Amino acid sequence: MGGLESGQAVAFASGMAAIAAVFDQLAAGAVVVLPEDCYQGVAGLAAAGAERQRWSVQRLAVDDTAGWIRACGVADLIWLESLSNPLLTVADVEAVCAAPRKPGAIVAVDCTFATPLNQRPLAFGATVSLQSATKFIGGHSDLLAGVATTGDDAPWHALRKSRELTGATPGTLEAFLAVRGARTLALRMQRAQQTALTLAERLERHPLVTRVRYPGLPSHPTHATAKRVLKSFGSVISFDLLGGAEFADRVCRHVRLIRHATSLGGVESTMERRAAVPGQGHLPPSLLRISVGIEDADDLWNDLDSSIRWAAP
Ligand SMILES: Cc1ncc(COP(=O)(O)O)c(C=O)c1O
Repeated sequence: MGGLESGQAVAFASGMAAIAAVFDQLAAGAVVVLPEDCYQGVAGLAAAGAERQRWSVQRLAVDDTAGWIRACGVADLIWLESLSNPLLTVADVEAVCAAPRKPGAIVAVDCTFATPLNQRPLAFGATVSLQSATKFIGGHSDLLAGVATTGDDAPWHALRKSRELTGATPGTLEAFLAVRGARTLALRMQRAQQTALTLAERLERHPLVTRVRYPGLPSHPTHATAKRVLKSFGSVISFDLLGGAEFADRVCRHVRLIRHATSLGGVESTMERRAAVPGQGHLPPSLLRISVGIEDADDLWNDLDSSIRWAAP
């Protein structure tokens, strides 16, 4: 993993364990800046720490690059996601990493959706790059693991120390499975990204779909940033249906090839209505997030299109 990210990696028992180890580096009273759209687990961890007055939290829109650059001057922890979960807005990681920052500040980039094949945050100057290896690195939905990679010795030692003190070391079988998965990462990503673009283009023309959020589409608001900071656009698509939550739930119940499940990044496609998840009520009610796997593109399209038509109000 260190080789893929061009740094030194520390493996953890889960992506959340790796994330928690980064927060564990903060001194009392630290200022944390998080994206408005991000993985709910990291938002929950930040909120829990703020409640106990361990740190304060500010939120910024993912694409407010000027705001992020200003925040670098005051924040102790800048938290970015390469592609935000679940709205898939692309952060200008390059510009934020290049901004002058408060001495000792950490710039952490959760690169799970991009994978190290599409972005290497350390090359832009990030302090730490994070992967939930549970997702694309493992690739088979059969393990929990996380990886934090740094470019310098000091943060690497600090993360290892935190892992030791909190017991967040991955199991041997999980580590073995993650390495097995990493061997096919490039092949899986190539196939899944190609299919994701095909599905996104077809969804964009679908009469029952109002909005497609996939940064590989020229219509995507952060497409230009995506082309600059990512090698390719990943294999997660979010889209909104012409109708409400019930319509979207019926689609999820009807799909057969696509699994109705929360996790993502596996060889099998998974889909979920994100606003149905506790704490995610702020999201558009009919937004479906699909993680495209390596199945045949037409088979996936037939499953999706027939389910949308069947479920239409
Ligand atoms: C972007 C992102 N980061 C981190 C995590 C947490 O990873 P794990 O499930 O391995 O704890 C997730 C999980 O969904 C995620 O989507």
